[in-house]
Amino acid sequence: MKIDGVPYRTIWVNDDQWSVSVIDQTKLPHEFQTLRLASADDAACAIKDMVVRGAPLIGATAAYGLCMALREDASDASLDDAYTMLAATRPTAINLKWALDAMRNAVKPLGPNARVAAAYERAAKICDDDVEICRRIGEHGFKIFDAIAKSKPGKTVNVLTHCNAGWLACVDWGTALAPIYMAHDAGLPVHVWVDETRPRNQGASLTAFELGRHGVPHTIIPDNAGGHLMQHGQVDLCIVGTDRTTASGDVANKIGTYLKALAAHDNGVPFYVALPYTTIDWTLDDGVAGIPIEQRSAFEVTHMTGRTDAGEIVTVGISAPGSAAANYGFDVTPARLVTALITERGVTPATRDGLLTLYPEQKNG
Ligand code: MRU
Repeated sequence: MKIDGVPYRTIWVNDDQWSVSVIDQTKLPHEFQTLRLASADDAACAIKDMVVRGAPLIGATAAYGLCMALREDASDASLDDAYTMLAATRPTAINLKWALDAMRNAVKPLGPNARVAAAYERAAKICDDDVEICRRIGEHGFKIFDAIAKSKPGKTVNVLTHCNAGWLACVDWGTALAPIYMAHDAGLPVHVWVDETRPRNQGASLTAFELGRHGVPHTIIPDNAGGHLMQHGQVDLCIVGTDRTTASGDVANKIGTYLKALAAHDNGVPFYVALPYTTIDWTLDDGVAGIPIEQRSAFEVTHMTGRTDAGEIVTVGISAPGSAAANYGFDVTPARLVTALITERGVTPATRDGLLTLYPEQKNG
């Protein structure tokens, strides 16, 4: 995707051929800054502090974190320590573990001298694959938009999304936003309702930023407005991303997703979830019982950061002093509320059979 005409991915290797840079997402939408990561510790901090976020990008950043750990020390002990540290940064997105496992499998059988080059090669492939996977998700999801557009000729297709599952959450394109970009680029009249996504406002600050830069018509709404819009026929479909999808189709995504799925179900609005295969946790069936839900600092709930009209970035308290606050990062939407999953291999019901039809290689465990 382009920022002011310059094509960007969300993570890239610098000219020194070993450190990486990322877009600092904590500064968006007010400032576009990049940040150099030069160690596994830097990568871990960037993930924890949400300089980078979104399930696929967390995995890609951890992969390069492992590369930088091996560059300093290519021993088994260094590999294991870096794996453990990076895996502990955020608990819900399974892409993190997937990427670290892929890296470890690629380098562990090699002697220490061969590990660094192999690690950088594997990390680059993780990034390139993610771009291609998201592009394919976009192509499959596009057909859904096209069908809706054909069913209401001349009228706008209104889609609601939650959090940020766009190119900023991946390496490029995005998962849930890829079909939206493709529909828009193909000339379909798309308009996006963007949930603000409290407490960190990934919708208002990141999704709106992305869509605005690409020229996609959109409107930011408070998180609790979606049900009202659905009741009044103003949402044709919902589409969200996911941080972990179980083998039976339960979907963990940013807190508040479940409530949107309930409202969609009550109003007969289709609710789609877009994901790459790296987000599927084949070891779990029951997402509510089995998916670990990240809890973050209460400070993110009791305070907000923004820019004053004078241009100053300030953080202010917004709650009654002394009141406790809880900050659950994700919730689980049961498969029964999901109309279909959109993956790089196609669109399928959110069921074990549906997923196995797309991924038959998982049939034997
Ligand atoms: O806490 P975040 O910002 O990392 O959460 C991101 C989401 O919930 C996204 O919807 C999810 O990672 C899917 S990303 C393509």
